[in-house]
Amino acid sequence: MNSKVTVVGAGNVGSVVANEVALGGYADVVLLDIVEGMPQGKALDMMQAGPIDGYDATVTGANDYAETAGSDVVVITSGVARKPGMSRDDLLKTNMGIVKSVTESVVAQSPDAVLIIVANPLDAMCHVAYDAAGLPKERVIGMAGVLDSARFRTFVAMELGVSIADVQALVLGGHGDTMVPLPRYTTVGGVPITELMSEEQITALSERTANGGAEIVSLLKTGSAYYAPGAAAAQMAEAIIHDRNRVLPASVLLEGEYGVDGLYVGVPVKLGAGGVKQIYTLTLTDDEQKMLDHSASAVRGLVDAMAALG
Ligand code: NAI
Ligand code: 2OP
Repeated sequence: MNSKVTVVGAGNVGSVVANEVALGGYADVVLLDIVEGMPQGKALDMMQAGPIDGYDATVTGANDYAETAGSDVVVITSGVARKPGMSRDDLLKTNMGIVKSVTESVVAQSPDAVLIIVANPLDAMCHVAYDAAGLPKERVIGMAGVLDSARFRTFVAMELGVSIADVQALVLGGHGDTMVPLPRYTTVGGVPITELMSEEQITALSERTANGGAEIVSLLKTGSAYYAPGAAAAQMAEAIIHDRNRVLPASVLLEGEYGVDGLYVGVPVKLGAGGVKQIYTLTLTDDEQKMLDHSASAVRGLVDAMAALG
């Protein structure tokens, strides 16, 4: 029997996740949204790409959670983007409500699934999903680090004129402008970029990475990035479905690691069957630790704001 991936939210990111999972042949996909007809239309469209792209995966559109039953992985992209006139608290409250009810519905149908949270604000939404799911923390994970590291990798490859295949990068922390790109752990063909670029170049690329989402929003004007975010969530789903033991950054509940307690923050983990198998604790320099503390306190601010909102 094929594995089964449910993607909740058939908007921009959700569609790319569904498409990448089908294209890779990783699993059958259920694409669910509250909008009637839209997920069914997109699913049928993806099925009709199968003969051209050569995949056999079944993609089903749904509005009813019964169709998601028995999923191995559930990717939660449902949420709204901030609109003009909407405060950060308004956004938090709306997405908290959506992520809580979606999580309860998917877990009722798929109690053994691993949940990959994508909706923003990412780390805060991981808390909402974790509280609503009642699953072990290993099975409630946030997608951000794969995307943020991919952005850093892209900028490094562009700057040095080298193949992306040889660039590895690591970005820690919350998914926001306080994220922590780590140049010491960012390498080209195994060589740290600190050996290949000036400090000014590295600072510029780190800042561009931290503002990577905003840069795309300012170009698109009507939405946020979705190709790279969708690819990132699909890569995490594949690691879980195929028990790949991939070492990828993800937002996970820290309980003392990196001096952070009871907070979802992005760190490198081993990802395979059942979700997070191991959290890797790196030795950080004082400056890196300070940046991570700052990033964690930004996440704490959102979690406190959610508690105040009820
Ligand atoms: P979108 O607006 O294109 O899609 C969102 C979809 O969710 C819509 O189709 C909407 O109908 C659906 N939806 C809303 N409430 C729902 C509910 N209760 N049940 C089922 N479906 C529901 O937005 P897009 O671009 O796909 O982004 C989705 C979320 O992902 C946003 O919160 C965005 O900020 C976030 N995001 C996070 C990234 C990350 O790195 N973690 C990267 C990119 C986006
Ligand atoms: C991004 O980083 C909006 O979180 C989204 O593109």
